[in-house]
Amino acid sequence: MKIKLKVWRQKNTQDKGGFQTYNLDDVSPDMSFLEMFDVLNENLVREGKDPVHFDHDCREGICGMCSMYINGHPHGPKQTTTCQLHMRSFKDGDTITVEPWRAKAFPVVKDLVVDRSSFDRVMQAGGYVSVNTGGVPDANEIPIPKKVADEAFDAATCIGCGACVAACKNASAMLFTSAKISQLALLPQGQVERKTRAEKMVAQMDAEGFGACTNTGACSAECPKGISLENIARMNREYLSAKASSDNI
Ligand code: SF4
Ligand code: FES
Repeated sequence: MKIKLKVWRQKNTQDKGGFQTYNLDDVSPDMSFLEMFDVLNENLVREGKDPVHFDHDCREGICGMCSMYINGHPHGPKQTTTCQLHMRSFKDGDTITVEPWRAKAFPVVKDLVVDRSSFDRVMQAGGYVSVNTGGVPDANEIPIPKKVADEAFDAATCIGCGACVAACKNASAMLFTSAKISQLALLPQGQVERKTRAEKMVAQMDAEGFGACTNTGACSAECPKGISLENIARMNREYLSAKASSDNI
């Protein structure tokens, strides 16, 4: 396959940045999008040029690192991660435009690499269980209805990739934050800090500069793990109930 790439190049956070065009003549349809980038970078290095910087780690769809905006969609045309996107999703002769996530809370570090440590700080604000829950319990030892266990598991599949923020016109992080709040609010281990958790994580989310949710649903539609909007409704209930019983009203 022949592919023309228009890739965002930006030296650092301060640099204005701009698109550069590259042509690849021998792309296999079986390559992943990142493997195609590896080939581009080998060519650039051979020519003595700076390779395109992009984030990746597992290349198995589980770490959430491979964030990039492809042809106007987070992670490209399929509802998957960039590492799991294959070049057969494009046609011979296609022009593909690749940009970094664009959100105030995700500043560009270089080229396609953005700083997503704001997500870490939202987690540090309350996305944990600090009570001692002991060793790993035997399966089915804690009686939880299957429906609730399934909902908690679905929320737990969020990989923190940031596609929900990238897809949202307000750069809202509510799908991510609500998935993390839901996972713990639904399980017995999460009950002790349930109220303070919702308040603290929402406050941190706002402090990081993420926008508000206006219920357009682009986040869930573009989420590679299909995290449901129901989690945002649950987060709103958790937050309001925490506020109603809080000393800080
Ligand atoms: S909610 Fe979905 S899109 Fe957002 S960070 Fe989690 S996995 Fe990624
Ligand atoms: S590199 Fe880990 S999800 Fe893509």
